[in-house]
Amino acid sequence: MQTLLVTGGAGFIGGNFVLQAVAGGLRVVNLDKLTYAGNRDTLAALEGDPRHVFVQGDIGDRALVGRLLAEHHPDAIVNFAAESHVDRSIDGPAAFVETNVVGTLALLECARDYWRGLDGAARETFRFLHVSTDEVYGSLGEDGKFTETTPYAPNSPYSASKAASDHLVRAFHHTYGLPTLTTNCSNNYGPYQFPEKLIPLVIQKALAGEPLPVYGDGRNVRDWLYVGDHCAAIRRVLEAGRVGETYNVGGNAERENIAVVEAICALLDERRPLADGRPRESLITFVKDRPGHDRRYAIDSGKLQRELGWRPTQTFESGIARTVDWYLDNQPWVQRVLDGSYRMERLGA
Ligand SMILES: NC(=O)c1ccc[n+]([C@@H]2O[C@H](COP(=O)([O-])OP(=O)(O)OC[C@H]3O[C@@H](n4cnc5c(N)ncnc54)[C@H](O)[C@@H]3O)[C@@H](O)[C@H]2O)c1
Repeated sequence: MQTLLVTGGAGFIGGNFVLQAVAGGLRVVNLDKLTYAGNRDTLAALEGDPRHVFVQGDIGDRALVGRLLAEHHPDAIVNFAAESHVDRSIDGPAAFVETNVVGTLALLECARDYWRGLDGAARETFRFLHVSTDEVYGSLGEDGKFTETTPYAPNSPYSASKAASDHLVRAFHHTYGLPTLTTNCSNNYGPYQFPEKLIPLVIQKALAGEPLPVYGDGRNVRDWLYVGDHCAAIRRVLEAGRVGETYNVGGNAERENIAVVEAICALLDERRPLADGRPRESLITFVKDRPGHDRRYAIDSGKLQRELGWRPTQTFESGIARTVDWYLDNQPWVQRVLDGSYRMERLGA
């Protein structure tokens, strides 16, 4: 049985990935600091399962990471751990540099030293997969898509910190030969996403009949990918990606923010009409835009599709319906993650 060291596996994408990987027959050692964004409830189904070992800790803790590598002999490391919310990076960029840059560097050094000590086949097949974002490429105009050769032009403290970590991963491959892989993915949505991000925030507020805040004119475009499809792409890259390469992952599902909010309103009106019969679209409220808000992202995932045969299984319509249903069925999870300090207030204004 293959063993993965997964970092950030109590977060949104990492949690979905761990559940999918264990169900797919892998053993996972899950290192997560449990910041506000990490939640062990997401992993409740794995309680007592010997294929999942949870360790609370920091990717920047070299002694801890070194010990985990020596003890569990993973076949690969998959790095999800990060500060991930653009609005928070506007209010406090330092934490983003600490985890996303300094933390990733520590993890890379530990991975390099561990990999150097492996022999034969284990050294040959070891992989370090770094999970990154399309936001490193900056903002697009009306046309075009990001490819793997688009120059980096990060615009927010979050994307700048992710860009820095991508460069470190690249450098560790070129300088030390570490067998790295990098994936740059578009916006994800789906089960277990912390309700500070657009889709779960709007679902929660719309359910409660509260105003639905839409930044600026609502015309910013994101390319939405269902989280399960992102996790499948990462597993495929891990299996068959070419060492040292980067792969873009996207859903081919560009939507303006306002269209995303309207889709959620329509689904909830069907499933849980408001008591007074008002359509939820009437709750949409345009608010002051995010500073430096990138206008449009769109991903060309042709390389991943051609070389590794990956395809998204969900359209935006099927994925958003699943997501709304998941949040309706899992309100206790939402209430528990909100029991911390965050109360769905505006950040990064
Ligand atoms: N959410 C998206 O749409 C998206 C898109 C593309 C790429 N990504 C990338 O995917 C990764 C996961 O994103 P997410 O949305 O699941 O984020 P998230 O904020 O939901 O989860 C991050 C997890 O990392 C943990 N963590 C934070 N700092 C840590 C540290 N120093 N050591 C160990 N664990 C730490 C947190 O506790 C949390 O569980 C990130 O690297 C992000 O940049 C996200």
